[in-house]
Amino acid sequence: MSDKTIFIASDHAGYQLKQRLCRELKERGWEVEDLGTHSEESCAYPDFAHKLCAEVLENGHKGILICGTGTGMCMAANRHPGIRAALCTHEFQAKIARAHNDANVLCLAGRVTSPPLALVMCELFLEQEFEGGRHIRRVELIEI
Ligand code: RB5
Repeated sequence: MSDKTIFIASDHAGYQLKQRLCRELKERGWEVEDLGTHSEESCAYPDFAHKLCAEVLENGHKGILICGTGTGMCMAANRHPGIRAALCTHEFQAKIARAHNDANVLCLAGRVTSPPLALVMCELFLEQEFEGGRHIRRVELIEI
């Protein structure tokens, strides 16, 4: 795995957006590890959230999770200590989730967010560094 490796996963409702983002992110030089789902057959979003979070925690790369609303994926991901998952529907949220919250998982809504906007949010999220400074203690306080 290289510095450009990222993990991505979805349920059936996020499948189409996942497929498109896989292709577009690869075209932009990212090494995309697709953890499923691999069809539009109905499935359970927590299975894919837990699978992706285990990889993010083990390998330190960032992850992208997509379901219909992004909500279920975000809820499941944030049950993992060390995972900071952010549900984003606007570019500013995606950028600040990294800059201020040091988020390591981006959650997207396949039934809400347009594919072009989703791609912009992925790139902002993947390229933005954590600002550190006053945000370090605040992020540390998240874990209970
Ligand atoms: C699937 O119908 C839908 O419930 C799921 O994709 C997600 O939106 C859950 O939060």
